[in-house]
Amino acid sequence: MTLPLAFTTHNEPDSSYAIAMVCLGNICRSPVAEVVLSAKLAAIGLSDVSVDSAGTGSWHVGEPIDPRAAAMLVDHGYDPRPHRARQFSADWFDSHDLVLAMDRSNLTELERISRSADDLGKISMFRSFDPDATGSLDVPDPWYGGRADFENVLTVVERTTDALVDELRTLS
Ligand code: 4NP
Repeated sequence: MTLPLAFTTHNEPDSSYAIAMVCLGNICRSPVAEVVLSAKLAAIGLSDVSVDSAGTGSWHVGEPIDPRAAAMLVDHGYDPRPHRARQFSADWFDSHDLVLAMDRSNLTELERISRSADDLGKISMFRSFDPDATGSLDVPDPWYGGRADFENVLTVVERTTDALVDELRTLS
């Protein structure tokens, strides 16, 4: 999987590359992906890449990350405290270069919201960067699950963001 857009030619006037992670509620999967990718980018000093997240739904707007996801992230050394849920809207396509869907239904919704071929070209499945993905590219929704389901999200997210960071480094 290669990144759909050149690193240096977007988001004028600055030259940063902006990534949005998108799930349904923006309280479980996409904030976990945002927190983990942000930590990895900070660790290697890749400051020209920004990452944030949103949900396709509005139910949880303004809420912090799900407490089960928060506890898991803290246990693994990440800081989820700043997160507040937001809803994705079409203008996010103007401010982001890469919009990554956590599952197929998020992808379908993003495609529905998109306004142009330009917008569509920014959308990919998050796990299209997962080197171990076989079959479904969904990050399974942990909302009705337990700790093991949240741990599975983190495992998939850490592996996938490692590969994504490798791609981003080649563009910088
Ligand atoms: P997320 O998980 O999309 O990973 O944030 C969910 C959060 C809330 C709901 C479903 C999934 N919900 O039905 O409220």
